Amino acid sequence: MPDGPVFALPEYLRRQSALLSQLDINSILLIPTNDLKIRSHDVHYPFRASSDILYLTGWEEPKALFVGYHDGEDWKTTLFVRDNNELAERWEGRRVGVVGAQERWPVDHARDWENRLGILEGLIQTKNTVYIQQGHDHDLDTLVNRLLITKTREKTVSGKGPSAVVDPSALLAEMRIRKSESEISIMREAAIIASNAHKHAMRNTKGESNEFEIQSLIESTFMKNKSIPSYGSIVAGGDNATILHYHANQDHVKDGSLILIDAGCEVQGYASDITRTWPVGGKFSQVQKDLYEIVLTAQLDAIDMCRPGNTWSDPHKAAVRSLSEGLVEKGVLDCTIEEAMGENYDGRVREFFMHGTSHSIGLDVHDVGVIKPNGEEDGRLLEPGMVLTVEPGLYFPKWVENLNIDPKFSGIGIRIEDDVLITDGDPEVLTASCPKTVVDIENTVGKDV
Ligand code: GLY
Ligand code: MN
Ligand code: MN
Repeated sequence: MPDGPVFALPEYLRRQSALLSQLDINSILLIPTNDLKIRSHDVHYPFRASSDILYLTGWEEPKALFVGYHDGEDWKTTLFVRDNNELAERWEGRRVGVVGAQERWPVDHARDWENRLGILEGLIQTKNTVYIQQGHDHDLDTLVNRLLITKTREKTVSGKGPSAVVDPSALLAEMRIRKSESEISIMREAAIIASNAHKHAMRNTKGESNEFEIQSLIESTFMKNKSIPSYGSIVAGGDNATILHYHANQDHVKDGSLILIDAGCEVQGYASDITRTWPVGGKFSQVQKDLYEIVLTAQLDAIDMCRPGNTWSDPHKAAVRSLSEGLVEKGVLDCTIEEAMGENYDGRVREFFMHGTSHSIGLDVHDVGVIKPNGEEDGRLLEPGMVLTVEPGLYFPKWVENLNIDPKFSGIGIRIEDDVLITDGDPEVLTASCPKTVVDIENTVGKDV
């Protein structure tokens, strides 16, 4: 059971105030956490609180609701939480409880979650607008919708009750896209643990192996460092690496094959997301090396575009251009660079690189953040404090017909992914300690076997 939230209380109070100050004072803000989910019969998936309640309060337990409302003088906050219950805690684990939340969490009041509907009904009726994230707390949604419906009927009589329900997620997303110094320091930690996990897997593999054994090397490093996977690890040998979201991780990996590992960890709620591709036997073949160098050059070119003032699309455009040049120069594609790239970055290269180059990363691995807030064709401008991945790849599946390439490239999938912080100066690659060049990888694989 935590003694308090991850960050010092003023950081949460600043976030709450930045959000609440955007709302009309005749509003109420309701941010419920997500509900527990059944995995099998009466067993739940491990609970992970919603990123928005973590962002606003640092509250990690299920059945919680953050409320903000104006009392005529000031914004006030209440956190509804599960109260202490000795019997339930003997089965399920210790709870912070109402008193603990009141004493140590960044809110004016803490109340028992079981009583939220009765307490909130009267308060909601005095407000015009309800800002609520629906879909998490069915009973709360029902209450709000009942008050809205009643209001529309009674409005002409008493004028009492809300007349609008608004989802506050976009406001939160806009705040979360820029990371604070304290968020960045946790993200650096998550990046270093994940880098060490990839290094550990490289060092402890020499020759043929199994995807699940290599997965265990990665995830044991996460666990040893008090972190968990931030998404299902992708550990894909040989041709499996051509499946973008492969996650079976059950196959044998032959000596001479490449293994693509896309695995990151979560530290105190914040994600890292790394992909490395390397030869299990420790040496790239010439064909593997040629393709790897094309992807690596594209990734470095894209990272170089991660600078303030560039658009969100600039790293992607750099990656597409660079991959196109590489594929034509190495004779993988028999066409001009212009044809490979396409007028709108949609040319032949997209048959082998069909995903985006970047996504925002933070409390969610695919973090929130509106990329085109004002409909900008190339996306918003990059700003210091934003953190995004840079992850170009090339995929030549054996099993897809008519790919129109030399068969010697078939069965190879390569992706290289780092997490990059936009700064006032050069981009800071948070995952830079993870081996990435051909030389560094070949000097690492198998070294501890
Ligand atoms: N790990 C999923 C991704 O790279 O976006
Ligand atoms: Mn990613
Ligand atoms: Mn990834």
